[in-house]
Amino acid sequence: MFDGYLGKSLDSITLSPNLFFYTTGTILIARLLQILAWRWWFHPLSSVPGPRLAAVSSLWQMWQDVVRDGDAARAIDRLHREYNTDIVRISPNHVHIKDPEFYFKIYNVGPGFDKDPGFYSKLGVNSILSADTNSARSMRSKANAIVAPRDWGSMVEKAYSTAKHASDRLVIHSERGEDIDLFHTFRSISQGGEWVDGTLKNSKNSSVKDRKSTIIDALNPSPNHDISATDREWLVDQSNTFVFAGVDTTSTMLMYTFHKVLSSHEIHSRLQHELQNADISIQEGYDWKTIRELPYLSAVIKEGLRLSTVIPGRLPRTVPAEGVEYKGTFLPGGTVVSSTIYSMHHNSKIFPESDIFNPDRWLAANSAELERYNVAFSKGKRSCIGMK
Ligand code: HEM
Repeated sequence: MFDGYLGKSLDSITLSPNLFFYTTGTILIARLLQILAWRWWFHPLSSVPGPRLAAVSSLWQMWQDVVRDGDAARAIDRLHREYNTDIVRISPNHVHIKDPEFYFKIYNVGPGFDKDPGFYSKLGVNSILSADTNSARSMRSKANAIVAPRDWGSMVEKAYSTAKHASDRLVIHSERGEDIDLFHTFRSISQGGEWVDGTLKNSKNSSVKDRKSTIIDALNPSPNHDISATDREWLVDQSNTFVFAGVDTTSTMLMYTFHKVLSSHEIHSRLQHELQNADISIQEGYDWKTIRELPYLSAVIKEGLRLSTVIPGRLPRTVPAEGVEYKGTFLPGGTVVSSTIYSMHHNSKIFPESDIFNPDRWLAANSAELERYNVAFSKGKRSCIGMK
């Protein structure tokens, strides 16, 4: 009897595919509306101002990143002005805070405010960039021996010969009246390191003593043995990460700064004057210790770092379990929080006329205080290891 009844019911369902479609559709729409309503009215961040689209989905950020061609940093800065507030909601669980002092709380050396795994895991490999704080600590200290060696002399010598080679070529181009491609010039200068495959070959065929110091040597988990296939793959990933982290950043900053120097007669001639009058010889041995003390050159570099803002986007961190309060708004543990380098470097209270390339701001009476707010390399436990 039941068989007959069930069979009939199933038949009637099979016979009505529309019923299945409408029921599933209605359930999905109801669930979607429930999520949207929760995010908009009941979420712990619902009182934080921001665009409606950002409050209910990640589409606002995606729009800025993809459609607006990576313009999120400027767009976020505009939101702060539009809503006249230091805290804005840029996706359902993510707030951006434009407050120089709170910046140092987020990007700190102490515990808490670790990298947001949701964002950094998208970088693909288990690298120093994406690693959790503990694994990163050990990788950072190994890599530091290479990127910040005690003996700067040999590194500077190598950088000098690469730069000299590039500048000789630039002179040839300019004598021929040809345009100079600063982008590719600085990219190849910044890349003048060891090639991954060559280094791996080197590591396999020679004794540890013979080998040159490279990131691969520093991170190699089995330095006294042949590199296994798994280690090899991992090491190639790590090397690519260092190329990714070190090459585009350095070359973009150099390209931007050179362009600014060459576009301003005043800045160009002041810099030239300082270099010509300094008691240094570039031709016979590169006197880098004296060069790095030159005040105008240093000011030009700092201004280049400030305005090139090669990593302008969000560097999201996660609020620790106990939560944190920002000016009356409680951010529960797990909330994603960021503060862009762009918004710090364009804070007109700290850097008046912030869009203008003005090296003199780094020579003014308050310049020592200003240093604190130069966050081009970020701050805290996950700041750049290539900054020295
Ligand atoms: C003008 C040049 C550079 C700038 C402005 C710059 C800026 C930055 C910034 C802002 C971060 C933090 C990223 C984050 O929080 O996710 C960072 C991280 C990093 N940078 Fe640089 N960087 C530069 C050059 C370099 C160079 C030359 C190297 C390598 C030799 C390097 C290696 C790294 C690494 C490995 C990290 C990740 C550190 C970690 O997560 O613990 N950078 N850099």
